[in-house]
Amino acid sequence: MTITINNRPIDGGDTPPSTRLSDFLRQNGCQSVKVGCNAGDCGACAVHIDGQLACSCMVPIAQCHGARVDTLEGLNNDPIMQKIQASFKIYGASQCGICTPAMVMAGYALCKNNPTPTHQQVKDALGGILCRCTGYEKIIAALVNHQKPIPNPHQHALVHVDADQKICGLSQYGADAVPNNALEVKIIRSPHHHAQFAFGDIAQWQGKHPNIKGVYSAKDILGANKFGVIPPFADQPVFAVDTTIFKGEAVAMVVGIAGTLTPALLRGFPIEWRELPAVLTPAPAKLADNIHPKRDGNILVRGFVGKGDVEQGRASAQFHVSDNFSTPFIEHAYIEPEAGWAEWQGDILVVHGCTQAPQMDKDSLMEIMNMPADKIVVAPSACGGGFGSKLDISFQPYIALACYYLKTPCFIVYSRTESMQSTTKRHPAEISLQMGCDKAGKIQYFDFFGVFNTGAYASWGPTVANRVPIHASGPYFIPNYSARSEAVHTHTAPSGAFRGFGVPQSAVAQERCFDMLAERAGIDPLEFRIINALDNNMPTATGQSFTSGVGIKQCLNALKPHYKRAVKEANEHNKTNTRIKRGVGLGSCWYGCGNTSMVNPSTIKMGVRPNGQLVLHQGAMDIGQGSNTVITQIAARAMQVDIGQIALVGPRTDVTPDAGKTSASRQTFVTGNAARLTAMALRQKILQMVNADGERSILQFADGQITITDGKQTHIIKTSQLPVDDEGYVLKAIETYDPPTKPLDKNGQGEPYAQYGYGVHLMELSVDLHYGTIQLIKCTAAHDVGQAINPLLVEGQVAGGIMQGVGLALMEEFIPGKTENLHDYLIPTIGDIPQIETIIIEEPDQHGPFGAKGLGEHVLIPTAPAILNAIANACGVAIHHLPANPSQIIRAYHEQRTSA
Ligand code: FES
Ligand code: FES
Repeated sequence: MTITINNRPIDGGDTPPSTRLSDFLRQNGCQSVKVGCNAGDCGACAVHIDGQLACSCMVPIAQCHGARVDTLEGLNNDPIMQKIQASFKIYGASQCGICTPAMVMAGYALCKNNPTPTHQQVKDALGGILCRCTGYEKIIAALVNHQKPIPNPHQHALVHVDADQKICGLSQYGADAVPNNALEVKIIRSPHHHAQFAFGDIAQWQGKHPNIKGVYSAKDILGANKFGVIPPFADQPVFAVDTTIFKGEAVAMVVGIAGTLTPALLRGFPIEWRELPAVLTPAPAKLADNIHPKRDGNILVRGFVGKGDVEQGRASAQFHVSDNFSTPFIEHAYIEPEAGWAEWQGDILVVHGCTQAPQMDKDSLMEIMNMPADKIVVAPSACGGGFGSKLDISFQPYIALACYYLKTPCFIVYSRTESMQSTTKRHPAEISLQMGCDKAGKIQYFDFFGVFNTGAYASWGPTVANRVPIHASGPYFIPNYSARSEAVHTHTAPSGAFRGFGVPQSAVAQERCFDMLAERAGIDPLEFRIINALDNNMPTATGQSFTSGVGIKQCLNALKPHYKRAVKEANEHNKTNTRIKRGVGLGSCWYGCGNTSMVNPSTIKMGVRPNGQLVLHQGAMDIGQGSNTVITQIAARAMQVDIGQIALVGPRTDVTPDAGKTSASRQTFVTGNAARLTAMALRQKILQMVNADGERSILQFADGQITITDGKQTHIIKTSQLPVDDEGYVLKAIETYDPPTKPLDKNGQGEPYAQYGYGVHLMELSVDLHYGTIQLIKCTAAHDVGQAINPLLVEGQVAGGIMQGVGLALMEEFIPGKTENLHDYLIPTIGDIPQIETIIIEEPDQHGPFGAKGLGEHVLIPTAPAILNAIANACGVAIHHLPANPSQIIRAYHEQRTSA
């Protein structure tokens, strides 16, 4: 059997004819072909077979005999492809980049026959390919305009520094650079939510299968059989002992020759299971007491923020609302399932793979492996999306252990089902909220209680339970406030971090109740929010005031003309339409950047090589959000050099200082400040060497020297003649930044964050009252980012966040044991997007680098409530339980008509 791959005939040899084409292509050097699902759901494996776009994971190679197969590797020099790639770069159409090869392949298939595709034609052509990061709009713009891309009008709108790698399919993700001789690791997982198990005769089973090189379980753990992202709460075993408490929990691993550990072989693994009763929701779990017997009522942690006197506020309010809401588990659904490999480099164990938190991974591995800091290195691969879940370790201990015992490289690639079963989810929430306002619309009291299903282990449950009471008010002044939360264990996959740490769930309740209360008070919803919005020198729910940088009112005011137009258009439409009703809804957000009242430092290193090269050691994981670009921009700005003069060294734990985890919207703010301080310190050092003017000097790093132009004077520092330190630098600076916060007291009063970012989304949509379907028309999003270091990346974050908010509102629901793949678990496709308009507000923050604020979590929070408010505005249907899918909308609509 012969297949012509990128113009080269490849003989199939003894490859089984049923081999997936995607696997065959990857085995033959085409790593641009990504595998996100192996089921035809994600489209990441798209290639051209005889010129036609196809999902290569669904094609056995037997069907390709004599066929011509093209992958991105073969088209990188094609003029049409190069136009598409250039356009992707200019529009910032790639974030994590894992879907990008498939997107440009699909784009090529369209554009080669249709050089001027319309918006709709692009949507139709790319309908089968999922992107979890970008929100698709920049991908569409890039393809529609690929003949003549229109550069972003904003100043400083630099493209991603790593865009070339991504658009050409050259970025190497967790599964892409595995050594040829690596052994494969497969995990034996619990098939039940709750079960006891006992191993059979493993040695005998292994003896029958010569391709198996080792089998390991809890008894083989070298150090602690325990991990967790918050050390005092660490409770999750690497391998369960005797009992599993969620479906998908690991009990053992099998290591063998790559490709030979088939499902059929692993089904014979000698283990006996006894299924036990399981509780999947908090209410029965609080009574069951059998998940974590040492945690009373299975309650992991409680949170509370209180100020003023809620009962007094209740008495003084004229209008009241009281309602309940619930949201389900949400799966992160990044297109790259967890993957990595471990190898020995001398006596150092190096763990490669996708992650959001290399230093935290290393800390956990040191405990599990019982190895000192200088014997373990975490070397992150490119990360194909994370959104919070890749903060927790998953695959890392397994490959580390396998490599430790077998003294050879070992790798693992999670299947989609394995990824969805075993990794963290967004906490399901059950929220009750009561609030009231006076005649003028001023909120008098706010009484919130949220129960969060935190799953089997702690993960980020404590963070969610503590963040929510702080943020539940939204960016509004509320004099009498009580917000309580509980994180409750159940027999489900651990709930963890997902863009917003519980705040998107609480915002659904808060923003819906705002609209209901505004209606009762007879006040327009936008006006109601303006009346109650926080401002400078106004205390938050935790009693913290900011003298500057509170930008919520500016966001609300910026939306006024859009809101007015949208309401007018919806009213006009609704006058003549009885079946399709249009509605307009608002949702707002605030979000504290960085850890809550905790140390939260980032460290950055910069140095100059003897050849004059300026190097930035940047440890903030870029998971698609653009920290490689933004941190380099900040360093360049503080150094007062062009970004092109800076060479980047990424976050490998042995060469780059700890810049903390990529979470909590902290990298632009915290690591950005560390970069600013480091660049300023190094610049100062250089200027002092030649006694040059600090303000005006222009620095040039090249050709074995630094050239400093100070007015009319030019100074030269011959870097090639300076002594070199043990890291190869002649000049160096290292600086750390830790945001100033203060602890919270027993009532949750204090200064939990040094900065907040703010935003408001205005959603326009229509509801089909026959089918309950929603058509999103337009989302206008105003976000206060302090200062947009890179407006192109701001727009990309906003669009991506909106689409994840759309998923939360309308379609996503992870049901443990059921929706464990990407055809049962739906995420938004390119066909679901509304038009998106981003309005950037810049209210400088006193602590942010050049005034900048974080943005990553903020962008998701307002979308779902804006959608729910728009549905209510369109047809009066009040949705209390997400997702608001068609059946739920129809049911609610009919219930409401019956009760009317
Ligand atoms: S990997 Fe082929 S469609 Fe997902
Ligand atoms: S850029 Fe599309 S999945 Fe990340």
